[in-house]
Amino acid sequence: MPRARVFVTRRMPGDALERLAPHAEVDLWPGDMPPPYDDLVARTAQADALICMLTDRIDAALIAAAPRLRVISQMAVGYDNIDVAAAAARRIPVGHTPGVLTEATADLTFALILAVTRRIVEAERYVRDGHWKTWDPGALLGLELHGATLGIIGFGKIGQAVASRARGFGMRVLCATRTPIGTDLGEPTALDDLLTSSDIVSLHVPLSAETTHMIGEREFRLMKPTAFLINTARGPIVDQPALVRALHEGWIAGAGLDVTETEPIPPDDPLLRAPNCVLLPHIGSATLATRSRMANMAVDNCLAGLVGEPLPNRVNPGPPAS
Ligand code: DGY
Repeated sequence: MPRARVFVTRRMPGDALERLAPHAEVDLWPGDMPPPYDDLVARTAQADALICMLTDRIDAALIAAAPRLRVISQMAVGYDNIDVAAAAARRIPVGHTPGVLTEATADLTFALILAVTRRIVEAERYVRDGHWKTWDPGALLGLELHGATLGIIGFGKIGQAVASRARGFGMRVLCATRTPIGTDLGEPTALDDLLTSSDIVSLHVPLSAETTHMIGEREFRLMKPTAFLINTARGPIVDQPALVRALHEGWIAGAGLDVTETEPIPPDDPLLRAPNCVLLPHIGSATLATRSRMANMAVDNCLAGLVGEPLPNRVNPGPPAS
């Protein structure tokens, strides 16, 4: 019986891949960039299992072209890049990595909140550009977090971890969520009321048809002109051209974004020239410990799928592929 073959679309931090080697032949994409789509399809077509990243488009055509595929294991909690319905139709389980990146992502959310409200990036540039002539009572004034209101949209694990940090900062926390929350970390609030009352609005919903562009012109106009938007979830949740106008025209005071509609952001994207906007390259989970845990979970899901056992962390319910 030939050994199972696993296509892994990128090198992963830590030693998780070493755990795969005794069980399967590992076909590791050697590049620092993601495999181009045609390579992704061709290599997956030869594989029994796929370990993929959020940068890989795992669509119905790719799944149809992979007759041996028995498990898709994503090294991320979000899986909006995967056609889960197409996988389910083939009874291919899809794994992901929930829980382990909660704290790292909540930390980065707070880093962005501080960066944009206390003007940290701007202040650092001010020092390096030689503008620091004296202690100036009126220079670089920002928002005081103590006593400010943080509105959290989506109150799953990451939203709640952000809320518990906000408590430590002495903030009032509102939350808008479709599911009952079972915690007193935030005050359940209707979305429009949250938008009108918050000094900072932070997004923590998964990307879906329902959440695509859920924050657009109407929502920006509901926010206070002194308020800030933070997005560490997925770029397309925000209507980006509307955000650019909101920043230029002062509908809101600023934004801190770890994610953008297109990633990487194209060099001519108008968002790069919008005022009061701190941009990061999707690094919410980027600590060595977290990324190593994610890699290990992806390997665990993959190994379980290969032997037809339930995936420890499965996106789509149902039996494994037969
Ligand atoms: C995820 O896991 O979905 C994050 O966006 C990247 O770690």
